[in-house]
Amino acid sequence: MPAEPSNEARSLTIAKFDKALHDRSAFSCGFPPIDNFLKSSLSDQVRDGMVTAWLATADVDRAVLGFYTLGAMAVRSNLGPKAWQRARVPDVPVIYIRAVAVHEGMQGRGLGTALVIDAITRCATIAEQMGAAAIVLDVLQHDHFERRWKFYADLGFQSLQDPDNPTRVYISMADVRSTLAQK
Ligand SMILES: CC(C)(COP(=O)(O)OP(=O)(O)OC[C@H]1O[C@@H](n2cnc3c(N)ncnc32)[C@H](O)[C@@H]1OP(=O)(O)O)[C@@H](O)C(=O)NCCC(=O)NCCS
Repeated sequence: MPAEPSNEARSLTIAKFDKALHDRSAFSCGFPPIDNFLKSSLSDQVRDGMVTAWLATADVDRAVLGFYTLGAMAVRSNLGPKAWQRARVPDVPVIYIRAVAVHEGMQGRGLGTALVIDAITRCATIAEQMGAAAIVLDVLQHDHFERRWKFYADLGFQSLQDPDNPTRVYISMADVRSTLAQK
């Protein structure tokens, strides 16, 4: 059963990255490479079309409380469900969630769940405009890996069984619809 975003998490605003609007300076999720990405690389990556970014703030405050990014990617069709192998394409188009993170003081209160639900809702809309068979992400190999893996499994993600990327998980667009139907 997927986790539920709390009412508190539901009341936050999730908006497209705006350099002038979002204050990233105090953000800390406990994993410095993600914090550094948000503060130092995100603007350039958005400008250059590598990702789009979606940031959570409280209505009265510009401080970033959480975020995720989306980008296009392809995975080999010999991975994933049988339908991918039947499609006779060398690579399967997917949407890649490059980062999901919540500010330390906000963790464990449902915001991570709310961000991933927002991400997969957005991806379902994107997949109506361009081919995208699944959403893919790499589960961070760091402290609390099992909790993090369960967090994504509860939302419907499963292992891609990619020997080159053992923590890579995916959720097909068909399964996205059933995850969202349970929300
Ligand atoms: C992983 C993370 C995004 C989850 O966000 P969150 O707001 O804390 O999550 P929620 O409150 O919605 O809780 C959902 C589940 O997340 C997992 N979780 C919670 N805190 C976590 C933490 N510090 N580390 C890893 N997983 C955590 C748990 O499985 C939790 O379910 P549970 O309460 O039944 O144990 C957040 O903890 C975080 O930013 N961690 C550091 C960066 C990171 O690991 N990013 C993910 C990269 S793949």
